Amino acid sequence: MRLILLGPPGAGKGTQAKRLMDRYGIAQISTGDMLRAEAAAGSEVGREAKAVMEAGKLVSDDILIRMLGGRIGQADCAKGFILDGFPRTEAQAVALDGMLEQKAIKLDAVVELRVNNSALVDRIAGRYTCAACGVGYHDAFQKPKRAGVCDACGGETFTRRADDNRETVAARLVVYHDQTAPLLPYYQAQGLLGGVNGMAEIDGVTVELFALLDKVA
Ligand code: AP5
Ligand code: MG
Repeated sequence: MRLILLGPPGAGKGTQAKRLMDRYGIAQISTGDMLRAEAAAGSEVGREAKAVMEAGKLVSDDILIRMLGGRIGQADCAKGFILDGFPRTEAQAVALDGMLEQKAIKLDAVVELRVNNSALVDRIAGRYTCAACGVGYHDAFQKPKRAGVCDACGGETFTRRADDNRETVAARLVVYHDQTAPLLPYYQAQGLLGGVNGMAEIDGVTVELFALLDKVA
């Protein structure tokens, strides 16, 4: 199964992608995670991307299209993938269509996580991640069972993203509505668009997603 999760910052793309990955045995491709890894490694792309990400703007289409093109050809994508954070512009969507056509493969679904803007700042401002294994938590909505200890690996060090402050989130939301939301009618016209209520609790969103995607799988 090949799908795209569309939704603004904090909609729950990363949270739900992990669960879809486990259920359908497909790869999660988070372009945000890939760019953060490049930035941490100090590569040329990473150095260029870091400042742009911290300003809440979009990294150039050229970089992203090249990055994604390499990633979907990797072995773990053979059974399918979940695109989390790509495409974000019409140019990226058109390039993706071209890449898939070249490989003679098709998207099965594009799912919008429908959320209210007002909830997103609180979700993002409360988010943190285990530094050792990358599992995500939230100060209020997704706490580890024992405070300060990762459920998955027992790690006790956590990190917060540099772009997760209130000012940058506001900029990221503007960018989403200007540049990424126009992809909804783009995929609607291709007959691929579905949606779930992203305002439900995390487990409730997962149930709705599985119900939608089990029909596709
Ligand atoms: P990226 O990493 O993709 O960030 P984003 O799109 O802004 O989305 P987030 O990761 O912030 O949110 P999410 O939807 O994954 O939410 P999550 O599940 O974590 O991109 C970062 C930057 O990289 C961009 O700004 C850009 O600069 C660059 N970039 C990346 N891709 C690019 C591209 N294609 N082109 C150009 N530039 C690109 O959930 C958030 C929090 O809420 C968590 O703490 C979670 O526990 C909680 N939560 C989740 N669901 C719920 C729920 N239902 N109820 C309550 N809490 C919930
Ligand atoms: Mg994410």
